Amino acid sequence: SPPRRIAVIRGDGIGPELVDSAVEVLSAVADREGLELHFSTEPGGAATYRETGHAMPPEALDRLRTEYDATLKGPVGLPEVRKADGTEAGLLGGVLRLGLDTYANVRPIRLLPGVRTPVRFEPGQIDYVIVRENTEGLYLSRGAGVGNERAAADQLMVTREGCERIVRFAFELARTRSGAPADGRRRVTCVDKSNVLRSFAFFRRVYDEVAADYPDIERDYRYSDAAAHDLVADPAHFDVIVTENFLGDLLSDLGAATVGGLGMCPSANIGRASAYFEPIHGSAPGIAGQDRANPTSQVLSSAMLLDHLGEHSAAERIRRAVAAAYAEGAVEIDERGQPTCGTRGVTRAVVERL
Ligand code: NAD
Ligand code: IPM
Ligand code: MN
Repeated sequence: SPPRRIAVIRGDGIGPELVDSAVEVLSAVADREGLELHFSTEPGGAATYRETGHAMPPEALDRLRTEYDATLKGPVGLPEVRKADGTEAGLLGGVLRLGLDTYANVRPIRLLPGVRTPVRFEPGQIDYVIVRENTEGLYLSRGAGVGNERAAADQLMVTREGCERIVRFAFELARTRSGAPADGRRRVTCVDKSNVLRSFAFFRRVYDEVAADYPDIERDYRYSDAAAHDLVADPAHFDVIVTENFLGDLLSDLGAATVGGLGMCPSANIGRASAYFEPIHGSAPGIAGQDRANPTSQVLSSAMLLDHLGEHSAAERIRRAVAAAYAEGAVEIDERGQPTCGTRGVTRAVVERL
């Protein structure tokens, strides 16, 4: 396969140690599979904002668009780095998701053998993907909220084009993805609040229109409150979930709690021309620099990156090594979601099993 250029945004807090882990795993798998991966660091995050006044300098965003095959991103942001409107200044969600038009945020929630879970389900019974709309919904209000001393407001908007493309993405994924719900029936669950809000009724209507093109996939609906319940009480039901931006944000962290914590959960941000890959969680400043964070989320994000490049055998090799490390008990996650062998211990256990 051709040489690939991969941009690396190291991030804030636990970002750098997680990215080190993932790059070590990627380099080892590249050796074994005969791939040529070229990594370059690009700036971004709260530290970059402090230095430059931009969470990402505009030239760096241009380079991501034009000079790389994909981007591996660590978590960014620090709660104390804020703008005058009270929101955080060091985040890249708006810059990258809108800047690269990565409209599909793909968040697999999967329980691996050997991982402790607070719910009464087994591996194989929790294996679904949240497809979170990534460019509109409540987040369209980012930077555009209004307020004064007495009140503040944001606006949730969805468009026909935005709903169509995310719902189509979800149905296509249901046709092709390798995992399946416990009953083996392919389904896409539309999660919304269409009983109350007009924007969500619109989202559901577009879902129905697109679903008509996929008679082989079961249609399925949950209001968002019931969805939150069922993700804990009946996760085996779910295959692919498609939902609005903010609901997808909430429900993916909820799903993470059922599969060993945020440190288990990777994600992909996919657009027509660009893609980047990052853990679903944040920069966890409270445990940064202490070799306590679980890098599995970042390592599995790098497997999703390889899949995106068409390097499926290398991607699968990483996933098998991660699964083996947990199944054999070489890696154990405690009740706080931290590996007892440390961040570096997880990296070592995975690399040894590649
Ligand atoms: P967080 O996800 O960083 O942490 C929530 C909890 O999970 C903390 O207890 C943390 O210690 C733990 N945790 C997270 N990742 C872990 C890992 N890999 N291993 C072990 N434990 C882990 O959320 P937060 O504390 O609400 O936010 C911290 C910062 O991250 C904020 O600035 C926030 O805006 C930012 N953030 C960034 C992203 C991103 O870059 N994609 C995502 C979410 C939050
Ligand atoms: C995520 C994060 C981001 C989001 C924040 C940090 C902008 O929580 O990727 O889930 O809310 O989308
Ligand atoms: Mn989130």
